Amino acid sequence: MVTPPHEKLVARLEQAGVLTRYWREAFTGIERHRFLPDRIITPDGEVVDRDTDPRRWLASAYDDLPIVTQVDEGNEDGSAPPISSASKPSVVADMLRRLDASPGMRVLEVGTGTGYNAALLSHRLGEEDVVTIEVDADLAERARERLLGVGLCTLVITGDGTQGWPARAPFDRVISTVAVRRVPYHWVAQTRPGGRILTPWGTALHNGVLADLHVGPHGTAHGRFTGDVAFMWVRDQRVTGRTLKAHVPPKVRESTLTRTRLHPHEPLGDFGASFAIGLHMPTVLKRIEFEQDRGRRFTVHLVDPGTGSWASWHVDHGSRRSGYQVRQHGPRSLFTELESAYAWWRREGRPEHTRFGLTVSAERQSVWLDHESRVIGSMP
Ligand SMILES: C[S@@+](CC[C@H](N)C(=O)[O-])C[C@H]1O[C@@H](n2cnc3c(N)ncnc32)[C@H](O)[C@@H]1O
Repeated sequence: MVTPPHEKLVARLEQAGVLTRYWREAFTGIERHRFLPDRIITPDGEVVDRDTDPRRWLASAYDDLPIVTQVDEGNEDGSAPPISSASKPSVVADMLRRLDASPGMRVLEVGTGTGYNAALLSHRLGEEDVVTIEVDADLAERARERLLGVGLCTLVITGDGTQGWPARAPFDRVISTVAVRRVPYHWVAQTRPGGRILTPWGTALHNGVLADLHVGPHGTAHGRFTGDVAFMWVRDQRVTGRTLKAHVPPKVRESTLTRTRLHPHEPLGDFGASFAIGLHMPTVLKRIEFEQDRGRRFTVHLVDPGTGSWASWHVDHGSRRSGYQVRQHGPRSLFTELESAYAWWRREGRPEHTRFGLTVSAERQSVWLDHESRVIGSMP
């Protein structure tokens, strides 16, 4: 007998250790393909149409891969960045495991997308205890239909999830499936003391990790970073090609010119290092521009939109010995800041992201190393 792809995926998630016995029934009961549109995009950019290639479409639905379900057609630079997706099933299972939600708890999900995660939550906790919010009205409507299609009447709100949903607060758990650079304080205010908030989190230099926060009795949440996941940004925190283009100035502008032996791969290619550097310079955006020679020459642009400061770090493999050219402009010397943040991280013994944590109060969001008393900085 041939095992249906759905059952194969469930078995695979169990083998990978991300699907616990508590969530098994929900993953078995909810079929992922029922939440996907007829036209999907695989991670390698391939468009798969259910009408023309139903086998491939069904197989893709049960691959352990994220599936893009909506792209931003309106981007001026011609690119089409994804703005909605069905997350990778192993990431979905892993986040639900970490959320530690059980029947009797009330959960708010931010970023309904296809509705698949909301269906899993509703299957386990009961549809009356789940609220999910989606900013895009069409997606919200389709998710409602698909949830109803599997017999679930889960409340799908069309709106900005960063505001939470006070009408159903307090929640025991808030789970976001869209990344933030700043945890919306509404989520803390709408979570019961003792409750938890789990959200993809990152900086403009590093996307991302999960922030796993515990809500305390005095309107403050704190916890460590964990995981290794890159989610799409919450809509008003997106860094588009256009934002960066507007701030990366022509090379001729006034700037200081130096050389460095530091190759960008060292600080920015290392997960822990780039995470720690991002914490030190959270307003700074990064863009890498490749020249058409298979990556032998490229430029890393660092930009701080607030001050108009920028740095460009040009890598040419031919100039490895003499060093790479660095130009800096503006009140902040962004390359120098990056170098010293990297040196700090090495002096501290190259801490992994899991040694860092976040405290969110109504006034500020502080990141720390090992303990709340060792604050590294505040998030803007
Ligand atoms: C990775 S997808 C979510 C996947 C989803 N949980 C699923 O099971 O298919 C992220 C979603 O968050 C939505 N989103 C972005 N910003 C939002 C916001 N401010 N409020 C609510 N949803 C938002 C996007 O439109 C997108 O559909």
